[in-house]
Amino acid sequence: MGSQLRLRTPPAPQLTGAAALGRLLSEGVTWGDSAQWLPVLPEASVDLWFTSPPYADARAYSRIHPDRYVEWFLPFGASMLAATKDTGWLVLNIKNRVASGGPLRGQRHPYVYQLVLALQQQGWRWLETYIWSKPNAVPGRFGPRTKDSFEYVYAFARGATPCFDLDAVRVPYKTTLDEIGRRKLDRLGRRNTSAGFGRDRTKTYLRGGADPGNVVSVPQTYNQHRGAGGHTAAMPEGLAEFFVKACSPPGGVVLDPFAGSGTTAVAARRLGRRAGGLEIHQAFVAAARQRLSAGEPDNVPVLIETASG
Ligand SMILES: C[S@@+](CC[C@H](N)C(=O)[O-])C[C@H]1O[C@@H](n2cnc3c(N)ncnc32)[C@H](O)[C@@H]1O
Repeated sequence: MGSQLRLRTPPAPQLTGAAALGRLLSEGVTWGDSAQWLPVLPEASVDLWFTSPPYADARAYSRIHPDRYVEWFLPFGASMLAATKDTGWLVLNIKNRVASGGPLRGQRHPYVYQLVLALQQQGWRWLETYIWSKPNAVPGRFGPRTKDSFEYVYAFARGATPCFDLDAVRVPYKTTLDEIGRRKLDRLGRRNTSAGFGRDRTKTYLRGGADPGNVVSVPQTYNQHRGAGGHTAAMPEGLAEFFVKACSPPGGVVLDPFAGSGTTAVAARRLGRRAGGLEIHQAFVAAARQRLSAGEPDNVPVLIETASG
């Protein structure tokens, strides 16, 4: 990683409110510190924060001790909460780690769970825990455990009725068309299943696809965004796409405060959302913008609505 990770202090935001948000949406990925930018964004203006923050202690670009992770993250959580629409979400991809020292050495460190509880206490409504399953996780030496083949994706809503489009993420039914036809004619209605609870099979197949469930299987992508200024922890676009489709409306505002190589913005713009992100390392910003300009429609709208109109 070498010199590209030497941190030059990014410029502080010179704008506030709608103008600051408009700048993020037009730039796609902005060179800046989220600790400075999030507090200047307008209230109730963001539909979805989809982000993978630096994991505790894990990478050269950030060294946040797991014991201090919650304290480090909570100010970002508070600023995001204020800037989120009542129907909006914070969706957080995060992974726990094995403690390398201290009394928990060799055990899973609880910082992820501590963070989830702290965000709930902060006012975020913890609605779901998704598992991002990685069918192609690389083998290695992990001690007395198997390789890591999943990460968490925690979904927190701001209000009681968040925007959620299950139809946008439905998957093909597993059973045959003939069998679907037969079951649709089943007039017995609700019946007991072997799982021990009732469901109405006549209604199961009317939605154009099956509920995908909360285990989201997306192959990890390795190395594809490396190169000059490339990122070592880029997430697959398929992961971002799933949550952008489910948790934000078409044309909605999607932001990633820890943008890295810009995956969230790339996926969200492709899906017709207005998207932006913040990245503290300048070299990653340049690489992310290259990615965005290769993949974005050139008429991305930057107009925004705010609570005050
Ligand atoms: C796990 S990576 C995100 C990778 C990203 N999801 C992708 O697909 O490329 C986290 C990123 O957050 C950035 N970061 C850490 N602290 C930040 C801050 N205060 N403001 C903005 N970016 C920050 C790091 O430089 C790093 O690139």
